[in-house]
Amino acid sequence: MSCFVAVVVLAAFFQNSLSQTCLVTDFEQVLEATRTCKDISIENLSVPGGQTLKLNLTDGSTVTFKGRTVFEFTTYWKGPLVTINGTSVTIQGDEGHIFDGQGRYYWDGLGDKGVPKPQFFTVQTFGGSIMRDIYVLNSPHDVLQVTNSDRVEFYNWRINDTAGDEDPTGEGKFGKNTDGIDVWNSTNVLIRDVAVFNQDDCVAVRCGANISVSNVLCYNTHGLSLSVGFNNDTSSINPLNTLKNVTFFNASMHGGENAIHIKTHNEGGLGFIEDVLYENIQLSGATHYGILIEQNYPLHTEPSDNVPIKNLNILDVHGEVASDAVAVQVVCAEEGCEDWFWDDIDIWGSGKENSCNYKPSGSFLC
Ligand SMILES: *[C@@H]1O[C@H](CO)[C@@H](O)[C@H](O)[C@H]1NC(C)=O
Ligand SMILES: *[C@@H]1O[C@H](CO)[C@@H](O)[C@H](O)[C@H]1NC(C)=O
Ligand SMILES: *[C@@H]1O[C@H](CO)[C@@H](O)[C@H](O)[C@H]1NC(C)=O
Ligand SMILES: *[C@@H]1O[C@H](CO)[C@@H](O)[C@H](O)[C@H]1NC(C)=O
Ligand SMILES: *[C@@H]1O[C@H](CO)[C@@H](O)[C@H](O)[C@H]1NC(C)=O
Ligand SMILES: *[C@@H]1O[C@H](CO)[C@@H](O)[C@H](O)[C@H]1NC(C)=O
Ligand SMILES: *[C@@H]1O[C@H](CO)[C@@H](O)[C@H](O)[C@H]1NC(C)=O
Ligand SMILES: *[C@@H]1O[C@H](CO)[C@@H](O)[C@H](O)[C@H]1NC(C)=O
Ligand SMILES: *[C@@H]1O[C@H](CO)[C@@H](O)[C@H](O)[C@H]1NC(C)=O
Repeated sequence: MSCFVAVVVLAAFFQNSLSQTCLVTDFEQVLEATRTCKDISIENLSVPGGQTLKLNLTDGSTVTFKGRTVFEFTTYWKGPLVTINGTSVTIQGDEGHIFDGQGRYYWDGLGDKGVPKPQFFTVQTFGGSIMRDIYVLNSPHDVLQVTNSDRVEFYNWRINDTAGDEDPTGEGKFGKNTDGIDVWNSTNVLIRDVAVFNQDDCVAVRCGANISVSNVLCYNTHGLSLSVGFNNDTSSINPLNTLKNVTFFNASMHGGENAIHIKTHNEGGLGFIEDVLYENIQLSGATHYGILIEQNYPLHTEPSDNVPIKNLNILDVHGEVASDAVAVQVVCAEEGCEDWFWDDIDIWGSGKENSCNYKPSGSFLC
């Protein structure tokens, strides 16, 4: 009898704590809050340098960030600053909140080639999880890595590494390798209403299926990228080198190096890119390429067909590139590219010739 009472009391206790809102204002409170609460408010949190803010969440949890979440500086650390795990979870920022990565202390103009710098968010979520209304300021290195996830949405993000475009010290302390959003091995991903100000890819999709990116503003970025072939398995097609059904809708690309960039790694293993659509992409002032598709990344040696690109549709792309940029360049391996349809493309301003060793069908004449 007493045993039964104890069980009931304990169950009631857990029921209560899981339904109440837990307030976190100190780093020491995080672990307990994620274990015992489903509604967590994190307010003006200071995360010690060299420590990861780990949010391993109970199914269905909601976490709301308020005020300034600041990540204290530390040297020689790769991060991540934050990890998030969960199923059917919601992570959101309150009005006026900031994730402050204090990039200024890390930037050395060298990115990956300089001292290690912490990556910001690594997220592995499932089952309709949402991460929304997020403002990230001054990321030391890349910002959001979506990994091994399924059925997830990211919307209303602003990533502001504008300060990394400048160097008040005169010592070359620029931001570099500050990718906005990278997607790895994930399915059914929706990314929308995103503004990225940085010094590398705006969005880069590396492997997965059914990934949709829409309503994006990119400033000074390296473009909307597909980057495939990181895995070196040459024995058979490796799922980590495959990308299927990716769409980019409605993007406005301001300055930066490229607008659209598809790169397959010719030293990587076997895979494929299939069923890709870029539609309604505006660009202005790209300094390298309007559209660059290359099967010889990163060293620009012989192109290789290890990651063939099939059914690539590019529609409704308009705008201006810098005069020494190339509007369109396609470098395919023999048999590397198949079944492309490009229509309604008008890119002007370049003083250089387009160059395409594979010709898409549609109205676009390279
Ligand atoms: C994460 O949380 C789940 C329960 O939601 C738990 O089973 C697991 O052990 C936790 N993992 C870590 C690394 O804390
Ligand atoms: C966070 O700190 C600021 C400045 O100290 C303060 O005005 C604000 O009320 C705090 N916000 C929260 C949610 O604690
Ligand atoms: C949580 O996500 C991180 C980052 O993706 C991953 O390394 C880790 O294995 C995940 N942990 C759990 C308990 O799923
Ligand atoms: C890819 O992600 C899925 C979860 O969606 C996971 O089961 C699988 O192990 C991941 N593959 C690799 C190679 O990490
Ligand atoms: C980005 O941050 C800078 C400060 O580094 C600020 O002046 C600027 O207004 C911010 N821009 C946006 C769009 O948030
Ligand atoms: C593709 O992902 C979207 C979310 O972006 C989802 O609504 C849709 O059901 C997915 N399609 C399939 C076939 O799973
Ligand atoms: C392909 O992606 C689109 C856009 O995300 C989605 O609506 C559709 O369901 C996907 N199709 C498959 C077969 O996954
Ligand atoms: C794949 O091979 C390239 C070239 O040899 C190497 O630079 C890279 O680190 C390798 N990648 C992995 C994931 O092993
Ligand atoms: C793209 O923009 C058009 C016009 O504003 C809008 O009708 C459409 O829904 C947008 N597409 C997506 C996928 O957001």
